[in-house]
Amino acid sequence: MRRVPVIAAVIVITGLAARTALPETAVSPVVAERQASMKAMANAAKTISGIFDGKLPYDAAAFKAAAETIRQRSGGAMVDEFPAGSLGAPSAAKVEVDQFREEFAALAHHLESLAAALSSAADNAPNGITESMRMKSGMAMGSSLLGKRAGGTAAADPSKMPAEHVFHLMLQDCTNCHAKFREKRQ
Ligand code: HEC
Repeated sequence: MRRVPVIAAVIVITGLAARTALPETAVSPVVAERQASMKAMANAAKTISGIFDGKLPYDAAAFKAAAETIRQRSGGAMVDEFPAGSLGAPSAAKVEVDQFREEFAALAHHLESLAAALSSAADNAPNGITESMRMKSGMAMGSSLLGKRAGGTAAADPSKMPAEHVFHLMLQDCTNCHAKFREKRQ
């Protein structure tokens, strides 16, 4: 039941098919580099999504590699890929990145902490997705049963959440940042 929106979210976030149809516009190396980083993260997110959905066989190393791809490209590394002079067309990065630096950095760092939690989850599950990695039914985004049971504080610590839930929160970071800081293109 929860699977369909997640798959849809991954397709919306990655949007690779639609973008490749566009004519190539010359962009500076820093822009090309961050777009390549974003694409690598999108492919990693697809891998993780496929593993949770059972479309790809579980492989702890592949799961970890995908989480690490996102961890290494988020946080400070991501912030550094968006210097002030590189915003606006032909890049899809909005000039708002520079106007709301703190918010942009907070999203990048939050994404990094979630990716780190997924990476450790792979270490703790060498042989397959464990029951504790699965999201419990009724564990809606933002209001987790786990959080309520543990008095609310556990919900803020991704290392204490089921990995599947962490993955959902991760996709929210992608979408939230794109909604504010990325130009919509058809
Ligand atoms: C802190 C903000 C932020 C976060 C978090 C973020 N993105 Fe992005 N993303 C952007 C911006 C801004 C662009 C536009 C970059 C450009 O064109 O210069 C972009 C572009 C992209 C692109 C298009 C790249 C291209 O070829 O032009 C993809 C795909 C993408 N992001 C996927 C993701 C995925 C998947 C995640 C989460 C795992 C994610 N992004 C997280 C800000 C973010």
